[in-house]
Amino acid sequence: MYCPSLRSLSTAALLLLQSGLPVLADIPITPDSLDSLTTAGMDIANPMMEFYEQNQTEGIPGKLTGTWYVAGSMMMTWIQFWQVSGKDQYNDVVKNDLMLQAGENYDYFSQNYSQWLGNDDQMFWGLAAITASETGFPEVSGKPSWTSLARAVFNMQVGRWDHRACNGGLTWQIWPYQAGYTMKNAISNGGLFELSARLARFTQNETYAEWADKIWDWSASTPLLNNKTYYIADSTSNENNCKDAGNHQWTYNYGTYLAGAAFMYDYTNKDEKWLTRVNGLLDATIARFFPTKFGGTVMSEVACEPVMTCDRNQLGFKGYLSMWMAMTAILVPSTADKITPLLKGNSEHLSKQCSGLTDNLCGVRWYQDSWDGVQGLEVQMAALGGITGNMMVLKNEQMKTIKTNPGADENHIETSDGDRPGELKPIQTGDRAGAWILTVLLILGIPGTVGWLIKTQ
Ligand SMILES: *[C@@H]1O[C@H](CO)[C@@H](O)[C@H](O)[C@H]1NC(C)=O
Ligand SMILES: *[C@@H]1O[C@H](CO)[C@@H](O)[C@H](O)[C@H]1NC(C)=O
Ligand SMILES: *[C@@H]1O[C@H](CO)[C@@H](O)[C@H](O)[C@H]1NC(C)=O
Ligand SMILES: *[C@@H]1O[C@H](CO)[C@@H](O)[C@H](O)[C@H]1NC(C)=O
Repeated sequence: MYCPSLRSLSTAALLLLQSGLPVLADIPITPDSLDSLTTAGMDIANPMMEFYEQNQTEGIPGKLTGTWYVAGSMMMTWIQFWQVSGKDQYNDVVKNDLMLQAGENYDYFSQNYSQWLGNDDQMFWGLAAITASETGFPEVSGKPSWTSLARAVFNMQVGRWDHRACNGGLTWQIWPYQAGYTMKNAISNGGLFELSARLARFTQNETYAEWADKIWDWSASTPLLNNKTYYIADSTSNENNCKDAGNHQWTYNYGTYLAGAAFMYDYTNKDEKWLTRVNGLLDATIARFFPTKFGGTVMSEVACEPVMTCDRNQLGFKGYLSMWMAMTAILVPSTADKITPLLKGNSEHLSKQCSGLTDNLCGVRWYQDSWDGVQGLEVQMAALGGITGNMMVLKNEQMKTIKTNPGADENHIETSDGDRPGELKPIQTGDRAGAWILTVLLILGIPGTVGWLIKTQ
């Protein structure tokens, strides 16, 4: 287990060593270099994990004050970062807490919290579990596999498919006594759509694909998802048989439908139908959340950032969309040219925004050149997701280079950080895990790039 006070000390010492200065300025980030992004990612992850420790409730690992799902989405983010960076110092705590929070029945519905949870809360833990499966995150011996936890979430949620109105859909809240029990929202339905699509691809079990299709079609029959303009409304209600709409625009709503469609494109072996949907959603996402007034290459939570009213949930959304855009670029290669510059743009901006106080605190307005004063777990997590999304597409580019140069060996990989082919690249600590995997892939002659970054069973 780990000890917060010692870890703060070592973080501080590390920061001192790295910068030579007690007060940090910008994090230097080269968005074309995995090494640079790895260092930046750790600079951002360290304070994130300190917030995580400080905000634990009643000593229960993974239960934070005033929220339950945020820890799950933080673990999802760490696992994705671990995969592309090889940095594993928080793996033990994430592994332990991700399993503990699965609860008594291993379904992320512990009786400690179940009486006040919404479908979207449980869904985020399910996405963390499928992320663990896809990345090959170490399993916990003697416990259910990550995949079986993700499946348990799916099984419970499809059991809650609501026929009282609107011909289906998932409600936001689970219990009649909660406000939101008659509301159907994009994150609950888009989240289950994404989880279904990822389970379909990972397990190759058609049941999940059928549900992904069904949730998409149902969503498109309501204002939640417009299948012509790809406008995603935030919510609609049973009372009006899902004809009304709450129209706030949120990055993560678009992200769930976008990523789910990308997984279905891959699962269906490049069905044109899903390509059309991916392209439509991607264009809508870019038009809304990469405003030209900020240069067009940095993501903004436009509904709350300009007026600084983002609540703790909203502070975290941009990180998810960053990683889900990266998955889209990997699974639907024709979108990579559009997505990659945006993810690099995010990193470039984070370099300046993550300059708060002495501990690389990140604010919420990625587009702003100096720290905006917001601090906490959620903004660190979002920034780590932003950096990770960039790393995912870079790693994918590297794998492609290998794929198209079958004769290359690990020391002669043309990387995207400007190394010339044939030049020996010194292997950095951060590269080792990656290099090792590359070698194994080369020896085994395993084709394909997606296989390593987003595994199937
Ligand atoms: C912990 O959570 C509370 C309640 O949301 C918040 O006010 C506080 O700032 C958090 N503390 C840290 C260190 O993140
Ligand atoms: C539920 O609460 C008990 C008692 O505080 C605790 O021991 C247990 O770890 C909690 N379980 C979860 C999943 O939070
Ligand atoms: C496919 O998944 C569904 C839903 O979890 C499950 O009921 C079914 O048994 C699975 N089928 C196979 C062949 O594993
Ligand atoms: C859009 O959704 C509606 C309602 O589900 C459906 O009837 C229509 O066929 C869909 N159009 C496309 C292009 O998928």
